[in-house]
Amino acid sequence: MSPVDRERPTALVTGATRGIGLAIARELQGDYHLLIGGRSEESTAAACAELESAEPFVADLLDDESLAAAAAALPDLDVLVHSAGISIKGSVAEVTRDQWRKAFEANLFAVADLTARALPGLRRRRGQVVAINSGSGFFTAPGNAIYSGTKFALRAFTDVLREEEREYGVRVSSVHPGKVDTDMQAEIVEHDGTTYQPELYLRPESVARAVRTVVDATEDATVEVVSVRPSRK
Ligand SMILES: NC(=O)c1ccc[n+]([C@@H]2O[C@H](COP(=O)([O-])OP(=O)(O)OC[C@H]3O[C@@H](n4cnc5c(N)ncnc54)[C@H](OP(=O)(O)O)[C@@H]3O)[C@@H](O)[C@H]2O)c1
Repeated sequence: MSPVDRERPTALVTGATRGIGLAIARELQGDYHLLIGGRSEESTAAACAELESAEPFVADLLDDESLAAAAAALPDLDVLVHSAGISIKGSVAEVTRDQWRKAFEANLFAVADLTARALPGLRRRRGQVVAINSGSGFFTAPGNAIYSGTKFALRAFTDVLREEEREYGVRVSSVHPGKVDTDMQAEIVEHDGTTYQPELYLRPESVARAVRTVVDATEDATVEVVSVRPSRK
C-alpha cells in the first residue's frame, strides 16, 4: 500500500485502475493525494501501490448503494476527475433497453450522483470537476447512439454544472479525447471488426497531460472545454 500524505491537496479519479484514469493518476501523483476509483479492492490496491500517496475508492458505479457507501467517507476534494465510463455499440435497431440503461447509469447518472455527493467539500476547497467526455460528445456516427447519447448528455451536465457552481468557486471542465490506446478502444475495434492501430491513437498519457493543463489553470481561469485528438489521421 502506498503511503498517505494528507497534507497534500486531494484528487479523486474514477476509473483509475487502468487506461486514461490511471494515466491521470500518474500525472497528478507528484502534487496530490489520490483516491483511486475502481470496482475491486485488488485492482485499486494495485494502482495505489505504484503511486506516491494514494488510497482506494472502491465502488461499482452501476450500483447506487455501492457508490453511496464509498462516498459517505469522502474527504473534501480539490479535484474530482470522472474518467470511469463504458462504451456500448450497436445500431438503434439492435440494442436493448437494458444496454441504454447501463450506459446512462455509468456515464451520466453515476457522474451526477458522485458530483452531488462531493459538492459540499468541493465548494469548501473551491475545487475543480473534470469530466472525461469524448469526441462522441460532439459528433455522432451510425452504431454510436448509446455512447454518443451518454456523452452529449454528459456535456449538457457539465455545461449546466459550470454555471451553477460559478458562485461557489467550483470550476468545471470537459475534456474530449479522440481514440485512445486503452482496453475500451480495443473492445470497440473488436466489435467493429476493424484493425487495432495504436500508432494512430492517442496515448493515455497524452490525455493525462491535457487534464494536467486543466487542473493547473490559475484560480481566475476555467479551461472549460478541451478537445484532444490524435495528430495523425
Ligand atoms: N479509449 C478511448 O478511445 C476513449 C476516447 C474518448 C473518451 N474516452 C473516455 O475516457 C474514459 C476512460 O476510458 P478508458 O479508455 O480509460 O476506459 P477503460 O480502459 O475501459 O477503463 C475503464 C475504467 O473505468 C472503470 N469502470 C468501468 N465500469 C465501472 C463501474 N461500473 N464502476 C466503477 N468503475 C468502472 C474501470 O474499472 P475496473 O478496472 O474496476 O473495471 C476502469 O478503471 C471513459 O469515460 C471513456 O468514455 C475513451
